[in-house]
Amino acid sequence: MTGSEALRAAVARLAAAGVAEAPRDARRLLAHAMGIGADRLLLHLGEALSPAAAVAFDRAVAARAARQPVSQITGSRLFWGRAFRVTRDTLDPRPETETLIAAALERRFARVLDLGTGTGCIVLTLLAEQPEARGMGTDLSPAALAVAAGNAAALGLAERVELVASDWFAGVAGRFDLIVSNPPYIAADEMAALDPEVRDWEPHLALTPGGDGLDAYRAIAAGQVPIWRRAGGCWSRSAPRRAQRWRACSPRRGWGGSGCCPISTGGTGW
Ligand SMILES: C[S@@+](CC[C@H](N)C(=O)[O-])C[C@H]1O[C@@H](n2cnc3c(N)ncnc32)[C@H](O)[C@@H]1O
Repeated sequence: MTGSEALRAAVARLAAAGVAEAPRDARRLLAHAMGIGADRLLLHLGEALSPAAAVAFDRAVAARAARQPVSQITGSRLFWGRAFRVTRDTLDPRPETETLIAAALERRFARVLDLGTGTGCIVLTLLAEQPEARGMGTDLSPAALAVAAGNAAALGLAERVELVASDWFAGVAGRFDLIVSNPPYIAADEMAALDPEVRDWEPHLALTPGGDGLDAYRAIAAGQVPIWRRAGGCWSRSAPRRAQRWRACSPRRGWGGSGCCPISTGGTGW
């Protein structure tokens, strides 16, 4: 069977399973199974698939038809231009979170703290972009921290990041001039309505703190004050309703913007 024939059959199978972007996902999975970059796929579509590639593609399409996210199947996600390993223990880094990176990089920082680091995509990207800076990433999940450690090593950043098992600020020591976080925020009664890719495959610890979804924000807001050197704050763009709820949790003034990821740095009055 040629790559084209396999691709056609896979698109039909994924579409029948309700996968919204079936052609795009099938192309990514075929390129992965063939061990080539997605940009090279067109050049090889007319060739017969090797037996190993055919088996790998069939398994990958079956997993995607069961609504497993593509990044978990391929084990990798590009974030801010770098590849991060992704597993079932980590949130798949979202493109929206790149707005947090853009906002953070407008600031100068020497020590950055990332609460709930997951794959480490936020803190590791910031350290890669600011070669003089050092950082700490925390998570409650030891399995996520192991993935973050692997990503740190793969990016050559292991010497500049400390990865700590911690319930938000509980295990954090030291002072930081930038604190960032993309905490879980989905309310318990919102979980059932999530896409299967998220609800059935991503770690619930990364999605929801339970209840009204705001406990992580409350914990971060309550714990921040002794740690911050200075304060202020801004948000990345999106989810204004959530930003409003977050501001209501914050005991101090100074949070602004309208987004999903708290970030704070600089200023006075904290
Ligand atoms: C929304 S995910 C964000 C992951 C990553 N920072 C990103 O943006 O892709 C939230 C992360 O917070 C972690 N987490 C959940 N509860 C926590 C807690 N009480 N203390 C520390 N981390 C926690 C989860 O394990 C998960 O990795």
